[in-house]
Amino acid sequence: MDSQNKILIKGGKVVNGDCSFLSDVYIEDGVVKDIGVNLKPAKPEGVRVIDASGKLVIPGGIDTHTHLQFPFMGSQSIDDFYQGTKAAVAGGTTMIIDFAIPKKGCSLIEAYDTWRSWADAKVCCDYTLHVGVTWWSDKVKEEMGVLAKEKGVNSFKMFMAYKDLYMIHDTELYASFSRCKELGAIAMVHAENGDLIAEGAKKMLSMGITGPEGHEMCRPEEVEAEATQRAITIASLVSCPLFVVHVMSKSSAKAIANARKEGKVVFGEPIAASLSIDGTHYWHKDWSHAAAHVMGPPLRPDPSTPEHLMRLLANGDLSVTGTDNCTFSTCQKAIGKDDFTKIPNGLNGVEDRMSVIWEKGVHSGIMDENRFVAVTSTVAAKIFNLYPRKGRIAIGSDADIVIWDPEATRTISAKTHHQAVNINVFEGMICHGVPLVTISRGKVVFEKGVLHAVAGHGKYIPRQPFSDYVYKRIHQRDQVCQPVAVQREPYKGEVISIS
Ligand code: URP
Ligand code: ZN
Ligand code: ZN
Ligand code: ZN
Repeated sequence: MDSQNKILIKGGKVVNGDCSFLSDVYIEDGVVKDIGVNLKPAKPEGVRVIDASGKLVIPGGIDTHTHLQFPFMGSQSIDDFYQGTKAAVAGGTTMIIDFAIPKKGCSLIEAYDTWRSWADAKVCCDYTLHVGVTWWSDKVKEEMGVLAKEKGVNSFKMFMAYKDLYMIHDTELYASFSRCKELGAIAMVHAENGDLIAEGAKKMLSMGITGPEGHEMCRPEEVEAEATQRAITIASLVSCPLFVVHVMSKSSAKAIANARKEGKVVFGEPIAASLSIDGTHYWHKDWSHAAAHVMGPPLRPDPSTPEHLMRLLANGDLSVTGTDNCTFSTCQKAIGKDDFTKIPNGLNGVEDRMSVIWEKGVHSGIMDENRFVAVTSTVAAKIFNLYPRKGRIAIGSDADIVIWDPEATRTISAKTHHQAVNINVFEGMICHGVPLVTISRGKVVFEKGVLHAVAGHGKYIPRQPFSDYVYKRIHQRDQVCQPVAVQREPYKGEVISIS
């Protein structure tokens, strides 16, 4: 990694989530120290000058959803915290939020500690952790408190799918959402009806459908939409903010958009894959190609889905983008070669998200450069209470910055990507929008196609609860919208006796 700790980025266009302006940016000791035209550092010795004329200077991407080295479905995702974050910075992402997921009956704090022990020494960029709530008890409730108050966790993921593994039921969702509300955390949901998936899978297998197409057919999009609507209803009843992860279908997105129109505090996270490719791949004749796309919820066969989701992301119905990067190479996917229910679920994206969204969102004319920054970085920083330290180029913000060439193109391929996985679901996609330089914590970690990433350079970033962006409305409503009892004279008439 470049040892330089003073960098002057000259002549670029700074693009934040709300505005763009021509300006130089001066960085020292990992922080943005000055922004302005024709900046001249007081002591120019030792300052590295990077020419960004004609280029965009954007806040580094924040990927809200990764699973690096995740032990899952009989295997472990092949991109670990080193490979995964190295690939992230090569693609212009400077922060990831991964998930610490305990097994049912196990401690949430131990899961958090385990994930920290895996990640701390390996990460090449900053990271933080959501924690999974996969079962319910007083101990879980108490541990959520410890995580929120002492470990910087302000988001918990509940699973409505993966029956017998991670799935919890409505009363447990109600209890865990209520606890999130008390703690000022954000409830996240994997929204699919796990009971219906289990029944659908049995039916497919009994019909002799054992290949990846069965994975989509056993869980059509209404299975996702029903769970999304149910989660919205439960969260609304306990007045808890809700974040629906990996939005894969039009119908789930519609439930989220409707809830937002009604004023509910709900956020939807489409992923790079759902915004750019469709589920017709499950019917591909080559098993390994089809299996590479298996994830839950699945990509949808309706080919108009990706553009539809992109339009909702552009207009604010959907809020942020992650990737659900959870990679398994073909030989790992092959655990399920004779039974689609055994194919480890997950696909790539952490490296390609920024370029894919630029291509399909900005180059296509659906959103502008500011909305691009908002949906790849700023809104995530606001929801998860990292803003303006992250998600904005401003004096005092962390120097997580990308110099972005909006005109350059690259062709995505597993042959050239920096991930460990042997297959790339965006194979062959030509994307305008290429990161030229990635700066993480004030250091150049990627430049002109060359990585200078170092394991352990990134840090765990703790987060405070009660993010204003999420909780301001909720607090105000709590004060003015409480249900009140009707004052009446006591009933004095006859009451029948019951045995
Ligand atoms: O298929 C997926 N999504 N794999 C990762 C686990 C999850 O549900 O996010
Ligand atoms: Zn999930
Ligand atoms: Zn295909
Ligand atoms: Zn996931």
